[in-house]
Amino acid sequence: MSSLLVHNIGELVTNGIGADPLGIRRKAAVLVEEDRVAWVGPAAYAPAADHRIDVGGAAVLPGFVDSHAHLVFAGDRAAEFAARMAGEPYTGGGIRTTVGATRAATDDELRATVRRLRGEALHQGTTTMEIKSGYGLSVADEARSLRIAAETSPETTFLGAHVVPAEYADRPDDYVGLVCGPMLAAAAPYAKWIDVFCERGAFDVDHARAILACGQAVGLGVRLHANQLGPGPGVQLGVELGAASVDHCTHLSDADVEALAGTAHSDGFGTRTVATLLPGAEFSTRSPYPDARRLLDAGVTVALATDCNPGSSYTSSMPFCIALAVREMRMTPAEAVWAATAGGARALRRDDIGVLTPGARADLIVLDAPSHLHLAYRPGVPLIRQVIRNGVPQ
Ligand code: NIG
Ligand code: FE
Repeated sequence: MSSLLVHNIGELVTNGIGADPLGIRRKAAVLVEEDRVAWVGPAAYAPAADHRIDVGGAAVLPGFVDSHAHLVFAGDRAAEFAARMAGEPYTGGGIRTTVGATRAATDDELRATVRRLRGEALHQGTTTMEIKSGYGLSVADEARSLRIAAETSPETTFLGAHVVPAEYADRPDDYVGLVCGPMLAAAAPYAKWIDVFCERGAFDVDHARAILACGQAVGLGVRLHANQLGPGPGVQLGVELGAASVDHCTHLSDADVEALAGTAHSDGFGTRTVATLLPGAEFSTRSPYPDARRLLDAGVTVALATDCNPGSSYTSSMPFCIALAVREMRMTPAEAVWAATAGGARALRRDDIGVLTPGARADLIVLDAPSHLHLAYRPGVPLIRQVIRNGVPQ
C-alpha cells in the first residue's frame, strides 16, 4: 500500500469535532494511504511514509464540495449578462436559449464543456462537484446530458423539470407527464438525485411535488431550486419530502426558516435538510443576497455552492463564493469555509468528504497562505497551491 505524508502544515482545517467549528490543528501532518486519510496529528509525531510533501507552514483544508452546478450545456449568454448589468432583470427566460444550443450540440462538444469546467473547478480546489442535467428537456437530451455528467461525477442530478420547453408551452401537464414517465425512466440509470425549479414561471408546487415523488419512487434523492426569485412554497415542499437540500433560499419567510430548523438531526448537530446558498447567482443577477445569518442563527445547516451555469452564475470558483458569503452575507470566514466543505458534503448526504479525519477520502487542498482566513481576505487571488484528490496529487 503506498503512503503519502503531507507534512509541516501550519494550520490544518479538519472539520472534525473540536473546540472550534473548523476543528483546526496547528503544526500538523496528515498521512494518506491509498485514497483515504489514515492518520492526523502533530507534525512532530508524523509517521514514516513512502512519499512526503512539505508544505512549509501553509494551511491545508478539505477539498471544496460544490453541491450545485449545471455543467452540461452549450453556448454562453454573455450578452444577457451585459444587458442585466445595464439594468435588465433576471427572469430565467434565457434557459430556453441554452436548451436550443444544447440540443444542437454533439456529445463531444458537451463532454468538452463538462471537462473544461470540471478542470477549472479542480484547480480552484473543488474535489467533489455535483452536476445537473436540465438543458436538454427531451427524453434523449436529458438522458445523454446525464450519461455525460456521470462520466465525470458520481453526484448527478436529473433536472428535466428546469423549465417547460417551448414545444410544451401551452400544455405543461403533458410535460410533467413526460418528465415523470419516459424521461425519468431514461435518466434514472445515470442519476443519483432529482431536482425541480419550483418557482413562478417554472414549476408550481403541485407539479414539483408530483415530479419529486416520482423520482423518490425510483430511488432518487430529492433536492430543489427553491425561493430564488421570490417567496414561494419550495422550501416547505423540500422539508415535506425530506430533501437533502433546498437551494438558493434567497426569499425566505419566518415559516420557511422554522420548517428548515425543524429538520434537526437527532444527533443534535445541524439539520437534515440543508440550505444551500449560491451567492454567485445573486452577484451575476445583481440581486439581494440570501440572509445567511438568519439561517445560521436558527440552527439550519448552510452549504455554499457555485450554481455554475451559463445564465445566472458563470463561475466555477468556490473561493469566490466564500469571499462573497463573508463580505455580502455576514458569514464569518470559518462559517463560509465550513459551508463550502462539510456543508456541501451534508447537502449531498456524504460523510466521507468535507472532513480530514481518519477514514475520510483523501481530498485536500494546500493554500498559498498560512490560514483559511485568506480565502476571503485575499479575494480574486489564486491561493490554491496544490490539490490532492483521492490521495493523488493533481
Ligand atoms: O440555478 N434557477 C434555475 N436555474 C439556474 C439558472 C439557469 C439559467 O439561467 O440558465 C439557477 O440559477
Ligand atoms: Fe441552479
